[in-house]
Amino acid sequence: MVLAQSTEDAEIVGREEELGALARFIDDIDRRPAGLVLEGEAGVGKTTLWRAAMRMAEKKGHRVLATSGAPTETTLAFAGLADLLGTLLNDVLPQLPMPQRSAMEATLLLSEPKRTPTPRLISAALLTALRELSTTGPVLVAIDDVQWLDTPTANALSFAIRRLRGDRVALVFAMRSGERAALPLDLFRTPFAERVSRIELRPLSFGALRRLLLTRTDLRLTRHLLRRIQETSGGNPFFALELARALARRNTPPEPGEPLPVPADLRLLLSDSIAQLPPATRDAIAVAALLARPSIEAITSATAGSADDLRPAFDANVIEVAEGAIRFVHPLIRSVVYAQIPAADRARWQRRLVDIVSDVEEGAHHLALVSFVPDEAVAFRLESAGDHARRRGAPLAAAGLLEHALRLTPEDQANERARRSLAAADAWLDCGDRRRAAALCEDVRRTIPHGPLRADALQRLADRDNAPTIAQAIAYAEEALREVAGDHRREVDVLLRLATLQHFRARWQPAVDCATKALGVAESAGDLDATASALTALGMYETFLGVGDPAGHYRRAIELEAQAAAHAASPPTFSDPYWAPQTMLSDWQRKNGELDEARLLLDRQYQRAVEAGDEASRLLLCVHLAELETTAGSFDLAQRWNDEALVLADETEAARRRGVVLSSIAALDAYRGNLQDAGEVAQQAKTIADAFGDELLVAKTRAIKCFAELSAERYDSALTELGPSIEHPVLSVLPIAGDG
Ligand SMILES: Nc1ncnc2c1ncn2[C@@H]1O[C@H](COP(=O)(O)OP(=O)(O)OP(=O)(O)O)[C@@H](O)[C@H]1O
Ligand SMILES: [Mg+2]
Repeated sequence: MVLAQSTEDAEIVGREEELGALARFIDDIDRRPAGLVLEGEAGVGKTTLWRAAMRMAEKKGHRVLATSGAPTETTLAFAGLADLLGTLLNDVLPQLPMPQRSAMEATLLLSEPKRTPTPRLISAALLTALRELSTTGPVLVAIDDVQWLDTPTANALSFAIRRLRGDRVALVFAMRSGERAALPLDLFRTPFAERVSRIELRPLSFGALRRLLLTRTDLRLTRHLLRRIQETSGGNPFFALELARALARRNTPPEPGEPLPVPADLRLLLSDSIAQLPPATRDAIAVAALLARPSIEAITSATAGSADDLRPAFDANVIEVAEGAIRFVHPLIRSVVYAQIPAADRARWQRRLVDIVSDVEEGAHHLALVSFVPDEAVAFRLESAGDHARRRGAPLAAAGLLEHALRLTPEDQANERARRSLAAADAWLDCGDRRRAAALCEDVRRTIPHGPLRADALQRLADRDNAPTIAQAIAYAEEALREVAGDHRREVDVLLRLATLQHFRARWQPAVDCATKALGVAESAGDLDATASALTALGMYETFLGVGDPAGHYRRAIELEAQAAAHAASPPTFSDPYWAPQTMLSDWQRKNGELDEARLLLDRQYQRAVEAGDEASRLLLCVHLAELETTAGSFDLAQRWNDEALVLADETEAARRRGVVLSSIAALDAYRGNLQDAGEVAQQAKTIADAFGDELLVAKTRAIKCFAELSAERYDSALTELGPSIEHPVLSVLPIAGDG
């Protein structure tokens, strides 16, 4: 069938000033990011100007990345990301470091994920993509209805744009007025906020409105009628067009004084124009409103109608075709259509859509909404879809589907319920909702008396960040230990978790004991990876206690990991670049004067953290590199690492880590002889450490202050600082420079 023209090329009336501002904005894209926000009420013409901005940029040969948010619960996770990178993917993917590339491919469903892409990896990949694209020319990121952008995309984009610095990336967002407060993606809260401007779209002038109606409708306009349309529409072009169309349908113009033949409410007005459509057409557009990406095939198979049913909707300017898909000419029309679907029809169509839509997650979403009574087959399908979402790094979508799976699991299927609870808990943890995750794990702990599922729940509860207190976490871990006996992997895992918990309470002997036990279990099972982890942990705790052979443990761990990787069928699991034997060994080497060897190891770990988009690791590695250069006496280099760490701490809003960075800065000041600065910065670090109850950091800041006092030959106050920590093992891990 021949489809109606889209309105994209229609003339823009009025708005000369706004178009001028847009043109200047596009002309000015230079080596720094900038933003423009088009704001205004529904239908005032934001999308129209947003499209104009894209055309201007395209004419200048800039790359344009575009997407529009959609006001519906059927929005797919990362739909926005897929749109933004869409046609550019072939250019972009080869430019990404491997971990980011696989994450992006998994998220966009281009390949089976080898491992679940984390949100931070996807965010990092998007940042790299924007940077790479902007090296060859200016890039415009254009987002319409940004208030409805799917959350995972909004989060990734917000991460990326907060980190843009000297990049030729400009952003144009269109947004309904008054939505700013709730936005995850707020250009006014970026480091380049002073380069973000705002255009508030006002109603069209009388002249512009006249021109609009003349060019876009068949209405025979008198000045009087025009005046009335302007009054009723308030100068809103969308409303004015709809009014004019309603009038045109009526054939006879209204008498003077007679009210316009439509209610002065946009929604009712739209309902009215939809009500004029034949029933088969109304069904077809109702199904379109239910779909995340409506296509003619999906619509006609759900309604059992034909493509011709859609024609009246094209003719009435309700839908249009863009990039091969059907879309409503305006999101408001979609909302109205959606809201008007009778419950019974909606259920019937959604039941059919379950098997019509090709997207696993969307199919499951429809299924969930039409399922009310427990049914194992349904629950199983939702669970699989939830796993699918999780594996491509869309935890929020996953959590939603898994909660539905849980709701629909029959009461008597305790194991299924527990499995789904745990999967949902993991998805919530990925989203940062620890409370819901902990509640789900508690449910499992209550209902499953023994076995691996209970152990799984306990292991998650034993996480320091999930349990209310460290003591409670230790209790959970000890309970878990009883459940996992015989399963060496888990035993090692729980033992090492216990060791960490003891470590956080500054109890190093119990930590060493747990790590030693873990090592025994791993070794007798012949598990190389687990042995390497246990050795690394043991080395760390022995360092704190000042016993054993930490360096030997680390070296063996590095070797075992290499062996394990060589034997593994799948690529090596990129363990945390910071908590790695290489980092620990470098620390030991630094303290023993093997600075070049230490630098080599740290540089490599740093590179891995950058590629993995792992900013937490990267920050800590910067601190280690700073301490290394401090020890080496390369103070300028040390400062550069500290500066980078501080930027990362601010960007990730990691308050506790900021304390770690400050302590490193204070140490550098002390070595440089800036004793006053050293004392002050150490005090700032200590305040943070106190607030978090981080004993190690407290001790470290005291030691720095003590060092500063000693250097200033104020022995008394040096002793006061040292007082409580004189026996503290942390002194052995201080960056005491080569001077000994
Ligand atoms: N300046 C203009 N010149 C010509 N047509 C316009 C103009 N402004 C808006 N229109 C027309 O009015 C209708 C609504 O405009 P548009 O879709 O741009 O509004 P919007 O502000 O994006 O609305 P919403 O907030 O609901 O997304 C469209 O049919 C559009 O073509
Ligand atoms: Mg719009």
